[in-house]
Amino acid sequence: MKINIKFESAKLKVLFATSEIAPLIKTGGLADVSSALPAALRAIGVDVRVLVPGYRQVIAQLPEQKVLATFDALADFPAARLLSGTAANGVPLLVLDCPGLYQRDGGPYQDAAGNDWADNALRFGLLSKVAAVLGSSESALDWHPDLVHCNDWQTGLTPAYLHFAHGSVPSILAIHNLAFQGVFPPATLGQLHLPLSCFGINGVEFYGSLSFLKAGLFYADHITTVSPNYAKEIQQEALGFGMQGLLAIRNNDLTGILNGIDTGEWNPATDKYLAKKYSSTRMTGKAINKTALQNLLGLNVASDVPLLGLISRFTHQKGLDLLLEIAPSLTELPAQLVMLGSGETKMQEAAQDMSHRYPGMIAAHIGFSEALSHRIEAGADMFIMPSRFEPCGLNQLYSQCYGTPPVVHATGGLVDSVVDCTAETLKDGTASGFTFSGMAAENLFAAIQRAVDLYRDQRNWKVLCKNCMVKDLGWESSAETYKAVYLKVLGR
Ligand code: ADP
Ligand code: GLC
Repeated sequence: MKINIKFESAKLKVLFATSEIAPLIKTGGLADVSSALPAALRAIGVDVRVLVPGYRQVIAQLPEQKVLATFDALADFPAARLLSGTAANGVPLLVLDCPGLYQRDGGPYQDAAGNDWADNALRFGLLSKVAAVLGSSESALDWHPDLVHCNDWQTGLTPAYLHFAHGSVPSILAIHNLAFQGVFPPATLGQLHLPLSCFGINGVEFYGSLSFLKAGLFYADHITTVSPNYAKEIQQEALGFGMQGLLAIRNNDLTGILNGIDTGEWNPATDKYLAKKYSSTRMTGKAINKTALQNLLGLNVASDVPLLGLISRFTHQKGLDLLLEIAPSLTELPAQLVMLGSGETKMQEAAQDMSHRYPGMIAAHIGFSEALSHRIEAGADMFIMPSRFEPCGLNQLYSQCYGTPPVVHATGGLVDSVVDCTAETLKDGTASGFTFSGMAAENLFAAIQRAVDLYRDQRNWKVLCKNCMVKDLGWESSAETYKAVYLKVLGR
């Protein structure tokens, strides 16, 4: 009995190792998750601390630099320090300071020209290594985690390092996107100080190279991914990116948990970026945001023309090509379109070209803008997400919260989070957007056409928007599921 009481009262301690965290450093949804999930876990009594590299942007936002530990002799890695910080939402941060590796102009993974940093293996090898040190008896910190929660390939080596370390705690690896794998030449193994014995099929080797992600998938005690449907898809060849065999073998250790949203950041009733705040019971403000957005982007100010929004990394994954293919036909519906994103140069040019061909009807903003992304979620009438694959996706969740029904390809987490609008689902209150199957421009067009038809029936359209807005999209229930996974891994 006494032991049970001790277990109940002992706080579960989790080190959350990640390569990005909003708002300090963000290239995509991982940053949003790394900010909101730890906060949600702390709210249910889990002591989570976040380990993140000290990129220039991160160090610049640390008010004071309190040194918690130094690492002078971690194999061939350059000397590094651990600084303490606190995120705006109160989550404690452990910032890995190593100026030679992280303090540069450019993004976390690429330089300003879009080329991967040549020393990424070392940069994320160090991040992985330090996470493992903190989860082993080598750690000099007073705070010792019960478990390390790794995220994507950038921390994929942590489970491998933990496997070979003394007094180490278990780890889980969360897959946010299986397409990014951190693959490097085999010679990198020596530089990273992993034993030669792990370079094989039962280890870190992947088709003759060293794969950070494979290392994590092989050595982690448990694997999670960001939606139940994606957990199934990645065990199949089509979306397994070569890892399907290993994932199928590890099926019993694989859990899909749907991402939630940070309702403090994404809430039309409190959003500081909006021209007018609104809620499901006071929807009039949404129209004001639409007019403001049309004005801002130089679109014709027309309240009755549906405005479609897209916010995305411009990569093949996101299916922008399909939308551009049908963009001219959309203007004839008529519908307006705004695209916000950055990424592959050709896609950026194609989006801009389309906006020049259809002034007043199509707008493209190339770049990363947090403010504009909130204004699009609020000001657009519908949100377009034609992703070829999508582990979870966050924008379709944000758009529902803003009463902007999403039109999505039925894949990954989009299947788990959007219920197609039909007469029945509209009636029973479950409808929350429009889905299409079959990755083809005409299928996307047909789904948008259905959305526009319903938009013309404003009474039913408002029912759909309200359905979306009253959905529970927060992190609470998924945080409970992560906690249950942690406890299961720890055998508690
Ligand atoms: P992914 O992580 O694959 O890019 P998600 O939908 O999970 O996709 O998350 C993308 C996140 O990045 C969202 O918060 C989205 O608003 C944001 N985002 C993507 N591109 C931009 C951009 N150009 N400007 C502002 N925010 C962006
Ligand atoms: C990835 C995925 C996206 C997911 C995000 C956060 O970047 O592409 O679908 O929502 O991670 O988990």
